[in-house]
Amino acid sequence: MEVGGIQALRRWRARQSGRVGLVPTMGALHSGHQALMTRARAESDLVVTSIFVNPLQFGADEDFVQYPRPIASDLAKCEEAGVDFVFAPALGEMYPSAPEVRVVAGRMGAVFEGEARPGHFDGVLTVVAKLFNLIKPDVTVFGLKDIQQFCLVKRMIADLDFDIEIIGLPVVRDADGLAMSSRNEYLSPSDRERALAIPRALDAAAEVAAGGVREGAASGGADSGEAVVESVADGVLPEAIESAARAVLESAAERGELDIIYLSLVDASTLRPCPADFRGSALLLVSATVGGTHLIDNLPLEF
Ligand code: PAF
Repeated sequence: MEVGGIQALRRWRARQSGRVGLVPTMGALHSGHQALMTRARAESDLVVTSIFVNPLQFGADEDFVQYPRPIASDLAKCEEAGVDFVFAPALGEMYPSAPEVRVVAGRMGAVFEGEARPGHFDGVLTVVAKLFNLIKPDVTVFGLKDIQQFCLVKRMIADLDFDIEIIGLPVVRDADGLAMSSRNEYLSPSDRERALAIPRALDAAAEVAAGGVREGAASGGADSGEAVVESVADGVLPEAIESAARAVLESAAERGELDIIYLSLVDASTLRPCPADFRGSALLLVSATVGGTHLIDNLPLEF
């Protein structure tokens, strides 16, 4: 495994002819990142992981300086996952001066998670575009937990004509159904119980989507590594699916167990609410705070 900044990357990239897979990260790597690397490995001949804490995506009141940078253990995890090149540029290499020209995420970046973090997704897309230009990957792998980021990168690839395939790895869940997140460690045992209303809401929505005949919980248990997209039964309306999830979340909110930030069934390519006659890929997006901890989750649906 090689490790380096821009010059080393350019030299390494010029020597490679095989299919290159990229896993962009900000470091502080965990098993979720390693799953992305393993998938990139399966999809390509060579795997590049970038480790770069990107200041452009942090707000003034956010933790850019304190963000963890455990580079030695990150490199060990990359090595273990079979990464070929770790691109770990210095801040001054990536941004010799504050960039005047940036990628603008637009309306899709200003809604949901973007509402409370103005400019966050512009920063994400700007650095991802730079990584694409520097690394020139054939395929890139992102987690579907940060679904808005995934949708925006996918949209940028299409809108700006990057010749790159994007693969989304499904949300990984604990046995109780809660989506794995580093934020879960802030939940007390009782908060965690309360947070389970979120996967329950998604299950209720999936049940309605399947026409009420669904067996087992799609949002619970282990994960196969393939995206589970529920097919919506003929005649089931978006509104009915969203209402089923809303009923579960609102009764939890009435009991004081959580605060709903948003719940919306949207077109995956625009993040606009699905109209009644919607056809195509949709996402049920959920965010709530439980005991002060901000949690997000989602359910992919195909109409
Ligand atoms: O998801 C992340 O870790 C970051 O937003 C990314 C994609 C590496 C861009 O800095």
